Amino acid sequence: MSGKSIEPSLFVFFGGTGDLARRKLMPSLARLQARGLLGDHSYVLALSRKDNFDDASFRQFAHEEMRKAGVSESACASLCKSRLFFQCINNSSDEDFQTLKARIEAIEKDNNLPQNRAYYLALPPTVFEHTIEGLGRAGLNRSAGWTRIVVEKPFGHDLASAESLNARIHAQFDESQVYRIDHYLGKDTVQNFLVFRFANPIFEQLWNRNSIESVEIAVGESLGTGGRAGYYDKSGALRDMIQNHLTQLFSLIAMEVPSVYEPEAVRHEKIKVLRSTLPPTPDDVIYGQYASGAIDGEKVIGYLDEEGVAPGSATETFVALKLRVDNWRWQGVPFYLRTGKRMPQKTSRVVIKFKGAPVSLFQSMGEVGVARNVLVLQLQPDEGFDLYFDVKTPGSPFDVQRRPLHFSYEESFEEIPEAYETLLLDVLEGDQTLFVHAEEVEASWKLYSDLITNPPKPKPYFSGSWGPEAADFLGVDEAHTLFRS
Ligand code: BG6
Repeated sequence: MSGKSIEPSLFVFFGGTGDLARRKLMPSLARLQARGLLGDHSYVLALSRKDNFDDASFRQFAHEEMRKAGVSESACASLCKSRLFFQCINNSSDEDFQTLKARIEAIEKDNNLPQNRAYYLALPPTVFEHTIEGLGRAGLNRSAGWTRIVVEKPFGHDLASAESLNARIHAQFDESQVYRIDHYLGKDTVQNFLVFRFANPIFEQLWNRNSIESVEIAVGESLGTGGRAGYYDKSGALRDMIQNHLTQLFSLIAMEVPSVYEPEAVRHEKIKVLRSTLPPTPDDVIYGQYASGAIDGEKVIGYLDEEGVAPGSATETFVALKLRVDNWRWQGVPFYLRTGKRMPQKTSRVVIKFKGAPVSLFQSMGEVGVARNVLVLQLQPDEGFDLYFDVKTPGSPFDVQRRPLHFSYEESFEEIPEAYETLLLDVLEGDQTLFVHAEEVEASWKLYSDLITNPPKPKPYFSGSWGPEAADFLGVDEAHTLFRS
């Protein structure tokens, strides 16, 4: 969020009645309105194949979705009263795109809008290219004002498909018009990585191979396929989480200091570190697949019994892998990435394990073992961080215990905005810092190309456990213990 003012504009949502639009996009716009950040001249045109809506009934529908998401009545009303529109469009023929063009122009004329347009593809990836080319053929890729296009994940399913999608986008839109969403970048706790590292010199001075022993990036979810088995079974945890969300977290933790806080400078550093990273070798990767088990005392079925999963599917629902960065800052420091479905609880955190003291004076005195500090950046839930250090237990006999210095967002701030609020606002402001560059997407697919070609066989793990035990050698010790605590 750059703090620039919002220009009058029209947001065009493809997939305007779909799950993402209903659960995230509409409520986020309404919350921005409630926070006074949207202004009175941001308009929305929702597109859908459904022909059972017109403007009035769509406004009612959107109002209801916003209300369900807990947005204030006045903010819902302000948006829904006259600034939401609906258009039924099949978007498969050029005629459809001409209909769309006419509708956009009519809304702009009626509301005195300059031609500032953002197209949001909240669509299945199978129709991305067709839609982008349809916009291009209708001349909707350029306008007298600004034109931006927002593309949701998954951005390709391997390197070749990502390159092809980039090429087809670039045939219609310049990179400066393209906003590839990774919603993890919209999370305040993730953006805070940059502030934490680059506004606090005491940490930045330690942020290298001299002081850090290992880094663990862990995202555990208690959910299973969440009713999306059809998609998930073709994707798996590597494509669904590692290639995008966890690799984004990794690049923010490992990147060099950008020269300025501007989109090109930040994204350039992220691309550089991805290009310095070595693809994981087969010995550095464990795949898992959840079997039945229990979460919070409730029995849950195994992955292979989920509706929509192919019989005998070898799709991984858990990945643990080790990355190495071949540069001066990180040579020799392992980065462990791990993620899994059906873990005991939802938790996302980065654990930085600092090197131990060369000689531990207090090794035999208490719970501590080798003296070392551990920093835990907790992304969700209980957003905040803890810096663990050793303290003498008061009294005698002489005893040492590990305790955290603790910071909690909840204790310090009123509310953390939803990731989509930040990202939608950035699209309207034209700030690409939190969006993924074409070269970044390709560099991250490239890291995992060998793994995609030769995936390991997933090892079963019980639902409600922290993954297959075979993965324990990847990121054991403090980092591991903390993740499991
Ligand atoms: C999505 C994945 O991108 O991220 C889901 O497709 C996953 O499988 C979700 O559950 C996790 O996001 P969050 O914000 O809940 O951590």
